[in-house]
Amino acid sequence: MPMTLTLAALDSRLSAPTRQLTAPGPDDAALLRILRTAARVPDHGKRVPFRFLRIAGDARIALADAVIARLLEREANPGDGVIEKLRLRFTAPPLTIAVVAKLGEDEKIPASERFSTASCVCLLLLQAAQAEGYGAQWLTGWPCYDRPLLESVLGLSTDEQLVGTVAMGTCPVAVPDRERPDPRALLQDWNPA
Ligand SMILES: Cc1cc2nc3c(=O)[nH]c(=O)nc-3n(C[C@H](O)[C@H](O)[C@H](O)COP(=O)(O)O)c2cc1C
Repeated sequence: MPMTLTLAALDSRLSAPTRQLTAPGPDDAALLRILRTAARVPDHGKRVPFRFLRIAGDARIALADAVIARLLEREANPGDGVIEKLRLRFTAPPLTIAVVAKLGEDEKIPASERFSTASCVCLLLLQAAQAEGYGAQWLTGWPCYDRPLLESVLGLSTDEQLVGTVAMGTCPVAVPDRERPDPRALLQDWNPA
């Protein structure tokens, strides 16, 4: 692919709202293709400090039920529409990939670097899903930080963190772009004092 097309593909990345995603989502072959791109991440020390959980089919409904049950333990009266929004987060998209960072003891590579690698995985999932023709969005929110939910429901170990969930599917609406930062405003020359 000529470089200009590569940059055009990268520059066209745009999140698709999770609750608007619908079937079809990536099939097994497309998903493996997407994961191959995501796993090609910079990785100090080749630790592969990440793994994927696939949430598809009936598991979407089971996870939504479990997250809502946990919400009601945390908060007796969540506001209007909160439960329905939460349910749609997991049930609307045909496929969600939860990206787990593996952050156990390591003598050489700090946990922050391994988390950085796992974060890059999420970005590559977005890029690859869009390149395969799907809409995608990376979300976190309290479910990604709630240890009982992570450990009892999603099966994470105590030294793992959830970097986020990346929903993928068909986006039936045209998503308007948002204003992007001007790189010129972000760039400074460093000079020695
Ligand atoms: C680590 C991380 C967590 C995010 N969590 C949420 C979230 O919980 N809810 C949300 O509406 N957007 C969340 N976003 C933002 C969306 O993924 C997305 O970036 C946003 O909708 C803007 O779209 P864009 O990707 O086209 O710029 C998160 C982004 C990142 C990087």
